[in-house]
Parts: sequence; structure tokens; C-alpha cells
Amino acid sequence: MATLNNRQILLGVTGGIAAYKSAELVRRLRDAGAVVRVVMTRAACEFITPLTMQALSGNPVHRELLDETAEAAMGHIELARWADLVLVAPASADFIARLAHGLADDLLATLCLATDAPVLVAPAMNQAMWRNPATRHNCGVLAQRGVDLLGPGSGSQACGDTGPGRMLEPAELLAAVASRFAPRNLDGIRVMITAGPTREALDPVRYISNHSSGKMGFAIAAAAAEAGAAVTLVSGPVHLDTPARVARIDVSSAMEMHEAVMSRAAQCDIFIACAAVADYRPEHCAGQKIKKSTERMEVRLVRNPDIVADVAALESRPFTVGFAAETTDVVAYARGKLAAKRLDLIVANDVARGDIGFNSEFNEVCLISATDTTELARGTKAQIARALVAAIGARFREGNPAAGEAS
Ligand code: PMT
Repeated sequence: MATLNNRQILLGVTGGIAAYKSAELVRRLRDAGAVVRVVMTRAACEFITPLTMQALSGNPVHRELLDETAEAAMGHIELARWADLVLVAPASADFIARLAHGLADDLLATLCLATDAPVLVAPAMNQAMWRNPATRHNCGVLAQRGVDLLGPGSGSQACGDTGPGRMLEPAELLAAVASRFAPRNLDGIRVMITAGPTREALDPVRYISNHSSGKMGFAIAAAAAEAGAAVTLVSGPVHLDTPARVARIDVSSAMEMHEAVMSRAAQCDIFIACAAVADYRPEHCAGQKIKKSTERMEVRLVRNPDIVADVAALESRPFTVGFAAETTDVVAYARGKLAAKRLDLIVANDVARGDIGFNSEFNEVCLISATDTTELARGTKAQIARALVAAIGARFREGNPAAGEAS
């Protein structure tokens, strides 16, 4: 059970159908011990009444930037100072745009500008609005500024569409808020993570690759940053936003990923290899597009370097964690890779199932060491990532009790 004893949470509610879930969120935040004040935009009041939020939060709801009565008691600056954390849920595309541009045209946008507290934003909008380049850009700007974007989730939407843009469930938002106050087990620790697929070029227009979306690796990067780590994310080609407070290096091929990782491995404390790296690449990449001239075509493949094994073989090596993507005998094969690659831990992932693994929003894995196996039950990739980061951090600390203290 998350605990938020006496934490002062300012919940911003903007206009969107997901605003009805904010009522449940207030209840859950209060059940966890938080003191909650609610700020609603005008549009939010079209979807849920301030009276509902007042009754659930036990505090008057704040709505107007220029409100004489509010100004006397708790104006925008006082509210901004009062908050230990600001959570905007749901955050509409319009609000995200205003926040990205630093506008101060209503109470909520103004106090987001005026607060020193962490700002967490849970987007909720139609999937096309979420995918629109303007929204993508605005989210990128916010992430660079250290605003945490929680979600959105994917699925059926109130408008009848299906896709990304659903606000995360209140339980997930509560967990994200609670984790901001939890003791941070990776404070001062440098973590490097690989994510996504690699592309092995056949010619200037074709390549060999796989179905990795990068979601698992990016979720681990976000969770590690949330746990206080300085995170470097080496990513193959994916369509994902960089999580807040994460340094990202984009690569395409396994050879490029190898170079990016090996040149930085000595400067990290923990290395987590989540990328689906191609084991082989075409021996030659044609200089021009290959023409369709014969019935058969043969491509000779050569082995790529094994990045995680090369990191684990370094004389001064980081704590090294691999993944094993398997379709049969998942745990047995993972144990084999743990030993063969001389890893500290391995995460066994069943990629034969359609409801988890490659490209899914969900996962279910086993964390395996030389001596034990821990099953992590099915959850969103964000939930699995937080559990993995907590467990990896704990194992790392067992062997390095003083790590990170000097940073
Ligand atoms: O990206 P998503 O869509 O979210 O999907 C997540 C995932 C299924 C890709 C992820 O959870 C996962 O299982 N990643 C490991 C994929 C993989 O390549 O597994 P493997 O069993 O083939 O490789 C074993 C380990 O060696 C992995 O840590 C891999 O990163 C590493 N490796 C493999 C080959 C290579 N040349 N260099 C490596 O470092």
C-alpha cells in the first residue's frame, strides 16, 4: 500500500472526459494519507463539478487566477509554494501546449510556472491528437524540462477510437506519485540501458530487424531516473519520447550500439541490456539498391559482437544485467545465458505470448540470479520496470554498500 502521510498534493484537473477518474484519484490519494487541494480549469468544470472534488478532497476547489477571496486566503503563489508535488490529471492537449509554452493564462498554468515542486502530467486525449507532431513536440519540451509524463495508456477511447491517449488508471497514478517520495535506491548511481531493435542494412533501402518497440527499455530508463540514477539510454530506432531526466543516444545497427555502449561502459555502475540486438548482420551492405534479377538470392550473414557479454568481460565491469527473449523453455535458456555471458542477473521474457513481450504495453518476467528466481506478475511495462529497478538496485547495493555516496 502506497504511503503519502501528510504529503501536500496539488491536483490539477483540465477539460477531458477522463476528468471523472480524477474523483477516484483524489479518494486514493487521501486514503494513502495525502492532503489534497484541487485546481480545476474552466473546461474541467464542464466534465465534473467542483462540488464533487471539494467533497472528496475536503478542501475548497480553486478555479480563478484573479479571485479576490482566494487571493486573500491562498493565491496562486501560496498554492505553488504549498504543494510538495503538482499532478495534472487529466492533462489535455491544450494544457500540455500551454505548459510547454510557459503560458500563465489561468490559475493552473500559472502555478505550474510558479512552483518549485515536481510537476507530473498525465496526458489524456484522442489518439490522433496524441500522435500529432505538435503534441509530440510539446511533450518533448516538457520532458527536457524535467516534467514527468505519466502514460498515456493505450486502448479504446471514449470517442470510439483505439490507440494511445487514455489517462492512466488512478492506481497507477497513485503509484507514480508515491514513488516520488519513496527512498530513492539509485541516488548517485550511473545506469546505462540499451533498448529497442537494431537494423542490419542489406542495401541503402532494406534491413533485417525485429519487433522490439523499445517500450520495455524506455520504461526501465524512466524508472531508473525516478529512482535517482543518472541514466544513459542507448536506443535503436523506435518511436518513443525520451523519458524525463534521461540522456539518450540514438543508434541504428548492432555495431553502432556496441561502439556507443563500449565507449561509455567504464563510466557506469549498472548496465542493463534490454535491446533486441541482431545476432547477425549481412556480410556486405550493397552500395546501391539490389535489383530483382534472379529467382533466388542468398545473403551471407556474419556474427555481431555480443554487447552485454563484452561489457561483462571488462576488467572493471559494471553490475551487468541481461534480458533473455525466449519462445520455449524460457527460464532454462535464460539461466544458460546468465552463465555463458557471465551476467549478475538476467530477466527472462517469454516472447511467444501475444499479450506480453514484444511491442505490448504489458510484460511478465522472471528475474534470475545464480542462486534464485523471482517471478514478476503481469503488469504494465512501467510497473514491471519499477519492480526490476528496485530489485536490481537492491542487489547492486548488496555488493556496493557505499556506491553513489560521494556523488
Ligand atoms: O522493446 P519491447 O517491444 O518493449 O520488447 C521488450 C523485449 C521483449 C525486447 C525485452 O523485454 C527483451 O526481452 N529484450 C531482450 C531481447 C534479446 O535480444 O534477447 P536475447 O535472448 O536474444 O539476448 C540476450 C541478451 O543479450 C540481451 O540482454 C540482449 O540485449 C543481449 N545481446 C544480444 C545479442 C547481441 N549481439 N548483443 C547483446 O548485447
